[in-house]
Amino acid sequence: MEFIDLKAQYAALQEEIDDRIRGVLTSTHFILGEEEREFEEKLAAYVGVKHVVGCSNGTDALQLIYMAYGIGPGDAVFCPDMTFVASVEPACLLGAEAILCDIDPRTYNIDAESLERQIQAVQREGRLAPKAVVAVDFIGNPADYAAIRPIAEKYGLLLIEDAAQGIGASVDGAKCGSLGDIAATSFFPSKPLGCYGDGGAVFTNDDETDRLLRSLRVHGKGKSKYDNQRIGTNARLDTLQAAIMLPKLKVLEEEIRTRQTIAARYDSAFAGRLQTPYVKEGMVSAYAQYALLAEDTKQRDHIMAVLKEHDIPSLIYYPVPLHKMKVFEGCFAGDETFENTTAYADRTFSLPFSAYLTEEDQQKVIDVVCSAL
Ligand SMILES: Cc1ncc(COP(=O)(O)O)c(C=O)c1O
Repeated sequence: MEFIDLKAQYAALQEEIDDRIRGVLTSTHFILGEEEREFEEKLAAYVGVKHVVGCSNGTDALQLIYMAYGIGPGDAVFCPDMTFVASVEPACLLGAEAILCDIDPRTYNIDAESLERQIQAVQREGRLAPKAVVAVDFIGNPADYAAIRPIAEKYGLLLIEDAAQGIGASVDGAKCGSLGDIAATSFFPSKPLGCYGDGGAVFTNDDETDRLLRSLRVHGKGKSKYDNQRIGTNARLDTLQAAIMLPKLKVLEEEIRTRQTIAARYDSAFAGRLQTPYVKEGMVSAYAQYALLAEDTKQRDHIMAVLKEHDIPSLIYYPVPLHKMKVFEGCFAGDETFENTTAYADRTFSLPFSAYLTEEDQQKVIDVVCSAL
């Protein structure tokens, strides 16, 4: 059984994907070709934003955002303690400092109260200027923008949405990627919308920011490639990757619906025995991962060992909160103890999950987890 069945997805879409690949090979417009533009337009329509800027990966998409808003030395960027390091790593690369916040124990997303405490702690310390908050749609579940936005506005912070795991998810019908002042995503192969290598994108409604991002992703270009106006980088999306995602984008909504059905089946099998995912009313999760919480590490490790005995893969997203990583050793923590991220990391495990997981395999996973319990 595959953890995320990309092989079955390819089998279902093979004809169209192969045709699209052949089209790029024939045109030889490998960088920012016709399909890249088409993909940007179609993804913008799907997410409901004015502009999508295709990028080389999600990390570069975030870096372009931090660059576009001039984030750098002396700036504080607030980030959930439970995320992939790339949410905030590019800000640190540009000289800013990551200020970590605890998560909500039910949604596993950034906790608005911890965020406000951290902003105030940074203000009291007086060394850094609070500049931005990066809200992550963690494992596909939208962050609580209704709680975060008023805090961002109160303290004048840029609200960045890291929708790397959230494409296809939504809040009251508004799609992830459209919920911050600006958003980034990743097309890493295992993401809800994945390519066959590295890829990413930035989402913005602002024409000027769109122009700036397009310049920054090609070495700060101006009117032409050799008219360099600013320091930029090389962060373009390959035409081939865009072409591969066009057929995937067409079926994304249907896949998201199937994911809801499978998640509901898992939910009802495990309810009351393990902590099942909590998706707030009005929200749709993309279920980038289907994560359960065991009672403790011992029970989690036991369940994962039993799954392994039955050749069923399971993984931990993520085993280490950022505040425990060497790279953030000694980082400014205010009064936060990160109780919830620590408990989450100690207890979480994720089950095989994709729109292509057969009913037979779903049942096998359920039976084995229940037998382990
Ligand atoms: C939350 C989050 N942010 C950023 C990234 C970075 O994306 P990429 O791997 O495409 O650089 C990822 C990818 O794993 C992610 O999960």
